[in-house]
Parts: sequence; C-alpha cells; structure tokens
Amino acid sequence: MEEDGFIGVFDSGVGGLSVWSEIVRQLPHARTVYVADQAHVPYGCRSLMEVRAFAEVITRFLLDQGAKIIVIASNTTSAAALYHLRERFPDVPFVGMEPALKPAIERTRTGAVGVMATPATFQGGLFANLVKRYSGDVCLLCQPCPGLVEAVEAGALDCAETEVLLKKYLGPMVDADVDQLVLGCTHYPFLRPLIQRLVNPGTTVIDPAAPVARQVAKVLAERGTRGPSSRHSNPHGNRNGKHVFFTSNDVSSFTHRIRQLLSNSLADGPNVRPLAWLEDRLEMDPGWDEER
Ligand code: DGL
Repeated sequence: MEEDGFIGVFDSGVGGLSVWSEIVRQLPHARTVYVADQAHVPYGCRSLMEVRAFAEVITRFLLDQGAKIIVIASNTTSAAALYHLRERFPDVPFVGMEPALKPAIERTRTGAVGVMATPATFQGGLFANLVKRYSGDVCLLCQPCPGLVEAVEAGALDCAETEVLLKKYLGPMVDADVDQLVLGCTHYPFLRPLIQRLVNPGTTVIDPAAPVARQVAKVLAERGTRGPSSRHSNPHGNRNGKHVFFTSNDVSSFTHRIRQLLSNSLADGPNVRPLAWLEDRLEMDPGWDEER
C-alpha cells in the first residue's frame, strides 16, 4: 500500500512520537517521515500566528519530499493551523489532533472532566468549538500546563520537579472528583505513568493517539495509494529504511530521546537527520548520509 509516497508527521518536538508509534503499530508497512521542530519547541507558549507560520513551512517541506498525507501530531499546531493548512493546500489530506472531549463527556460518571493542554491550545477556535458542541452541563476543568513539554523534551519523565508540576496541575482535578482526564497535548502520554499515580484511582486517562491513527488509515484507504504531490527528492535514501526523523535542532540528543521514549522499538536505531531553518523555508543537508 505504501509504495507511493509516505506519511508525513510533525510536531514541535518529541510529543508527536506518541502518535507516530500508534500509526506504525496500526500500519506496519507504512513509510513515514517525522519532523520535530525542536529549534522552536515549545510551541504552546507562542502566538497562534507564529505557530501557523512554522506549520506552513514544515508542511511545504514534507510535501516537497513526497508526503501523501500530513498528520499534525500536535494539538497546539492543529489549534493554530489545521483550518489554515486545509485552505492553503486543498488537495492534501490532513489529519489533526483535538482534545478528546466528546468521549470524556460521554463516559463521565462523576460529571467532572479534566483537560490538560498547552496555553495556545486553549486559546484556539478549535477548542472553543469543542466546548460549545459537547460540554453540556458537565463540569469542565481546563488546565494549561506550561513546563510539561519541556520536561518531556528533557526526558524528565519521572523526576521530582516534574512531579511537583503535575501535582500543581492535577490537584484541582483530584479535588473536583474528575473521573475522565483528557491529555490534550501529544507530549503528555509520555508522562502517563506519573499522571496515573497522582490522580484518583479509577480515573480514565484519555490519549487520542489510537483514534487518530485509525483516521489516518481510513483517509489513506479512501484516497488510495497515490500521493498528492510530486516527489523532488527521496528522504528515505538508499539505506534509510522505512522511517526517517528530522530535527531542526541537535541530531544526537533527538536520537537519544527517541531511543528513550520509544524503548528502542526501532530495530536498527532511529535514522535521524538535521534540518535547517533558512528564513522561511526548511532545508536538509543532502550529504548527511554519506558523511556518517
Ligand atoms: N506536542 C504539541 C501539542 O500537542 C506541542 C506542544 C508544544 O510545543 O508546546 O500540543
């Protein structure tokens, strides 16, 4: 199925790997290219306009390489740019993320639902629409969580500082008897063991990665195998295997973090390459493979 074009996935950093791993679990033959814009992480404390501009450049890069579908593996970026990107690139199928309010509100027994996300995600029209559509008379606790993205980027998944932050953010939810907790940022699933220890027993922690991956499979099946754009270069190269990861920051620390977060699930180790921001475009180093 995947011979013509690949699945492009992007986020500000490592968070989108929580979505990427579910995509490759559900679509084991898929080829993927993942872009982590770690030169600009975190996106969640930036303006929606700024995030939208980054998203457009990354999308263009992925399309130039031959992406046949783009997965915006970031709630913040989806909030800032999903509608805009669909307008700008009408032939390209985009799959975005939104906090999973609907299932949480349907399932709550206590009538209290918590949402953790970045400040920017709560500011976007996408979230306001969700609240208007689904919240009804449920008590919705929306908690912006600055600092958590940085903790995941640094690999601080189970340390005292991260626990202090999480206690601060989760305390009001525990007090309000929240029984459904929505992870509205793709970085947060990596903190799930710690989160689960700090919430009331029986709280359901909702990570939308699996339904998003199902949506990717559905869109691909509907569209067939042909990609939307012409391929100008081949990011998978000769030796690269099925998955390529790009970072706009340091290659070796991204490689190390992928290994930590994905528990070495990539048989030959991740194939990570550098990307450089040049004003309003992204460029890869064509000689990178040969140099290594
Ligand atoms: N992981 C992204 C999200 O889902 C972006 C977080 C950030 O860079 O602040 O929101």
